[in-house]
This record gives sequence, structure tokens and C-alpha cells, in this order.
Amino acid sequence: MRQQWTTPRLLGSLLLVAAVGISCVGAAPAGEAKAASGVVPLGQVIPAPAEVEPGGSPYEITSRTRIRVEEGSREARRIGEQLAGVLRPSTGYRLPVTDEGGGDGIRLELSGKAKELGAEGYRFASGRRGVTITAKEPAGLFHGVQTLRQQLPPRIESDSRQEGPWQVAGGRIEDTPRFAYRGAMLDVSRHFFTVEQVKRYIDQMAMYKVNKLHLHISDDQGWRIAIDSWPRLAEYGGSTQVGGGPGGYYTKDQYKDIVRYASERYLEVIPEIDMPGHTNAALASYAELNCNGVAPPLYTGTNVGFSSLCVPKEITYDFVDDVIREIAALTPGRYLHIGGDEAHSTPHEDYVTFMDRVQPVVAKYGKTVMGWHQLTGANPAEGAIAQYWGYDQTGQAERDQVVAAAKKGTKLVLSPADRSYLDMKYNKDTPLGLAWAGLVEVDRSYDWDPGTYLAGAPESSIFGVEAPLWSETISTSKHIEFMAFPRLPGIAELGWSPASTHDWEAYKVRLAAHGPRWDALGMDYYKSAKVPWPAS
Ligand code: ACM
Repeated sequence: MRQQWTTPRLLGSLLLVAAVGISCVGAAPAGEAKAASGVVPLGQVIPAPAEVEPGGSPYEITSRTRIRVEEGSREARRIGEQLAGVLRPSTGYRLPVTDEGGGDGIRLELSGKAKELGAEGYRFASGRRGVTITAKEPAGLFHGVQTLRQQLPPRIESDSRQEGPWQVAGGRIEDTPRFAYRGAMLDVSRHFFTVEQVKRYIDQMAMYKVNKLHLHISDDQGWRIAIDSWPRLAEYGGSTQVGGGPGGYYTKDQYKDIVRYASERYLEVIPEIDMPGHTNAALASYAELNCNGVAPPLYTGTNVGFSSLCVPKEITYDFVDDVIREIAALTPGRYLHIGGDEAHSTPHEDYVTFMDRVQPVVAKYGKTVMGWHQLTGANPAEGAIAQYWGYDQTGQAERDQVVAAAKKGTKLVLSPADRSYLDMKYNKDTPLGLAWAGLVEVDRSYDWDPGTYLAGAPESSIFGVEAPLWSETISTSKHIEFMAFPRLPGIAELGWSPASTHDWEAYKVRLAAHGPRWDALGMDYYKSAKVPWPAS
């Protein structure tokens, strides 16, 4: 029998429990998801899969296991090697990746015929002889591999040899995402993050099937990418950060390296040049961009809303054209984010004029406009994506404006600040982060439905969700991890999983099982009292 996740939850739990032979359910102790047998019950992963049908024998990875890919599939082989890279250190097994035929072991199959799996879906079948992951596209195989990682005990993530056994529960999963856009944003402007730090975060996002990396690469405090035609942007505009540290910027090769690394994990990079506000670093670098012709000093504080490009000056559009052309040329993804938030120093009429001139430039260089939802107060271009970052206290008029745009065809990415902003403090004692949108504990972050969140906006207008991490107070990888975990997996689940799986009580148990996984990966995270972490 196929167990749809639409099955009433208790029945679903009983089926899962029956399949792995645990005898208690309900008030289970912390760590329930780690079944007594040590086998992770099928489907107890994040994001929750669309359909799970547990049953049959588990598969055990042994020293004889091979990872089989089809001959000639470069991407399947790369995904096989990525999987082997996770499994080899902890199991100590050789785990060769091979295109020799054979029905046993871990098989990664691309099947053009599996149309129902779409661009990112996968099928997962586990039994005595092996685990087979099937997908129509490589992204689906990659996501299926993330599911396989989570079906293994947390110590599989360790970089040193651990005790087995390495069993994968038997049964079948068929899984496709609810929303096409499942993003995370990193602000590399307020504090600069190195390529290695960005890659580390990409790896963490990819585990949860996040497929968009929005990089906020310019703001008042720093311009973080080399632009050949305006070299002082990076060299001078990138030379500091919040608090006055040395800042930094990506060379074009470094940016391309991030884009490549992300694409090998099936994340599309969306660069953001925030305009016309949030531009002090650019205005400080080139006096001629200022209406009064005077460059302001660099800025290392955390205020917003004080800077604006000079809308009436023609050189502003030469600048914008050059920057967008150079960044578009480095970016294979479809979207270019032009910001548009908090333009408090730009008169409204100028804001509309600016957006009317700049959006066609994005299209000229082959990209689709993305902007913060204030763009809906101008004239969003055909096909533009608006990113909603309002919160409970956002006024009705502002919501109405966004909903009206959605009804006219603007697609929305939802990033409610009091749910999905990873820089909001968890509680009043959280040592990092801000609190202007409120305190955002892990349950609050998870407990909303993107399909119904913005009253009046049809679900068909929701392109997806994104969890932004602003970095006024964030300057190390440990900081990123402490603020992103455990909230990011919840936002990723809202983006991927069917609404029918949504249930905090069940989710918190699945989430708890990830604490030991993050420990094994050497990651920091906030040990929220709301989550029944297993005793360590
Ligand atoms: C924003 O938080 N200013 C988009």
C-alpha cells in the first residue's frame, strides 16, 4: 500500500513505527526518530517527502557496496563521487563509483521517461539488495542523495571512521517539491565572507534541498564584487565593513568559483545589487554618482535608508548598465536582484523613474528582474519576481499593493521577516542578531503556510520561500550556523514539502534527530528548548 502523507498523522506514524518494529508511539522520548534498531525510519528526513511507503528489508552498506552510475553520465558520476565523499570517511569502505552493470549496491539512475519526477524530483527504493535513486534530471538525483544521507545514522557525517552497521530502512519514497524556489540569502556586504565560508554554507543549504543562493553583494557598508569598468567599487567600496574591519571583495574568478560550486550542488546563484538606496559604498567610491558631486565617507555603522543613487543624472544609468552587464556575464542563473528596499532617501517619483529605467537593462542582458516587494510600488516588469519581507506589523496598504501585483502576474517569493529572517534573535538573550521584527523561535519560524500566508495572493502566485541572513552582527561561519540552524531546515521544508505534512509536533521530532548530524559535521546550532534533542 502506498502511504500518502495525507494519511491522518497518527495512522502515518503507526505505519512508520510498524515498519521498523518500534513498540511505542505518542509521548516518545527525545530522539524517537532514531529508532531503537538504529535505523532511521523511512521518510524521517527534512524536508518531509511527498510520499513514503515503508516496508521490506533494509539495505546494509558494507565493504562490498558499489555506487553504480550509468555509463556516459558525467553528472550522475559526479553525484556518485559526492555521495562517496560523504560515506567513505565514516564507513572506512572503498565504495567505488562504477558504471559496470549490476543490480546491487547504491544505484543512481537518470531516466528521461520519469516525467512525473520533473526538474527536481526523485524516486528512492530500498531493499535487501540495494538502494536505487531514480530521477529525470541530475538535480533530482542530487536531492535523492541528500535523502539517502539522512536515512543513515548521524555519525555517517563524521570525517573519521565510525562503527556501523550502516542500514537504510526498506521501502519506497517518491518526492517532488511544492515550490520551485527554495532560497537562502547571505549578506556578504555588512560583513564580508570568504569563498570558503560561502561554500561551507552552500553545503549546509544543499543538505535540505535549498536550490537558490541569493548573495547580497552590495550595500552601504561594502561593495563585494570586482567590476572592471568601475574598479574603485570593490577596491575602495569593498575596503571596510560594519565595525570598521578590513572588508573584502570577490574577484571575478572567485565569484565564478562560488557559482560553479553552487551549481554542482544544484543551487542557482542570484546576485543582488541593491539600488537605488543601500548604495553608500558605491557613492563613496565615485563622487560623480552623487547629485552634489561629493563622495560621502565610507560607512561602518548599521543604519539604513540614508543613501540614494542620483536618479536625474545620466551617469547613474551608465553605471547601472556597466554593473548589470558585467554581473550578468558572470552569472548563468536566470535572475538578477536589484534590491529596491528602504529607498527612504529617494523621492517616490524618482524611485518609479529609476525602476522604469533599470528593469529593461536587466532584460537587455538576458536576466529576469527580482526585487524586494517595494518594487510593487513602482511598475514591476513583466515576469519580475517580488520578494515579500513584511511581517505581522506590515500595514494593510502595503500588503494590498503586493497582493494587487500578484494578481496582475508578479510572482512572489515569501521571506516574512518575523518568520524567515535568520538574523532575528531567537529570544531576548540570543547573543547575535537583531529584533526589529520580533523574536523568532524555531517553532514560529516553521509554523506558517506559504500558500495562505499573504491573504488574497493566490497560491499560484507564490514562486517559493527564502530565508535571508543579514550580517550586521554576523561575521563568522559559527555565527552563520548558530542563526541558520535549526531555522533554515524549517524554511526549506515549507518550500519543499506538501502542506499535508506540516505539523510542528511531528517536525520537531524529525528536527531533533539533526542535532547529532550537525555535531558530526562540526556545525554550531542553537539548542532551542522547543526541540527534543537526544541526550548526548
Ligand atoms: C530588507 O530587510 N531591508 C529587505
